[in-house]
Amino acid sequence: MRCCLFETEDIIPLSDDVFRLIRDIIKDYCGLYFDDSSRYLLEKRLTRRIRSHHLDDFRDYYRFIRYDRNSSEELAAIIDVLTVNETYFFREQNQLRAFSEEILEEMKETNRDRKTLRIWSAGCSSGEEPYTIAMLINERGNFNGWDIEIHGSDINQRVLQTARKGIYRKNSFRTTEPYLLRKYFVEEDGSHKILDSVKKNVNFSYLNLLDPVKTRFLGKMDVIFCRNVLIYFDSVSRRKVIENFYDRLVDGGYLLLGHAESLINISTAFTLRHFKNDMVYQKPEKKGMNIRI
Ligand SMILES: C[S@@+](CC[C@H](N)C(=O)[O-])C[C@H]1O[C@@H](n2cnc3c(N)ncnc32)[C@H](O)[C@@H]1O
Repeated sequence: MRCCLFETEDIIPLSDDVFRLIRDIIKDYCGLYFDDSSRYLLEKRLTRRIRSHHLDDFRDYYRFIRYDRNSSEELAAIIDVLTVNETYFFREQNQLRAFSEEILEEMKETNRDRKTLRIWSAGCSSGEEPYTIAMLINERGNFNGWDIEIHGSDINQRVLQTARKGIYRKNSFRTTEPYLLRKYFVEEDGSHKILDSVKKNVNFSYLNLLDPVKTRFLGKMDVIFCRNVLIYFDSVSRRKVIENFYDRLVDGGYLLLGHAESLINISTAFTLRHFKNDMVYQKPEKKGMNIRI
């Protein structure tokens, strides 16, 4: 009991007006939007940041992240404590079935001359999603001799470290078939390490989805997965990210959002493809053309 009392006393109070100022900085920086019910969450998680800088209160902290020349470092630290990083292997099975059985099959045909496949897992958290994609491609077979590139990106440095190591605990495997666990992982001290043969096709980078200049360096993608990321964004940021995805996709390329997400009220630029297993957004082919560049 004493410990709880101590923790509550320890938290620095955050007034409504300073809460709004801080949440707007975060929203403009990375799209994450905290509504009024999240004030306590910010109060609790950012108190530690205030103490680590030996500041007195949230108003000082606001000035710090607004005006200090090291503010971008602090914003990165804020993101590490505020993002929701929940993820696991083989998440959202129906959509993955559509990807594996229908989209990949289609791409074997459409990309057969160039024999390349470029896939972006945008907001990949600790890497379960891009590694799942790599395993699915391997399971599909018939991509021998292809240049497969899967790129995972996230704004949270902490989860990217886990992604690069590729070592996972039980929680990440809640929907993984045992035979896939045996086939693609080795056991190490009670954890599971992804095989190098899967890892070699996956690379990771630190990337803010609201930064169109850096995302442009990724080049064109055949498929973009951005699942369970935009639900945390405000609508203006969602639009910006989706416009950016449109530019990054090849004509005819696919955009896979989380099952609770859609482009309603965000964009009309994509068409909705009805596959057997799921519905998926597609960037339209240019009229009169069937060539992908
Ligand atoms: C809930 S996880 C989703 C992980 C995975 N896509 C999945 O569906 O299992 C959301 C991830 O989006 C990342 N994220 C949030 N805002 C971002 C931004 N502006 N740029 C890049 N990544 C962001 C978070 O750090 C977090 O790791």
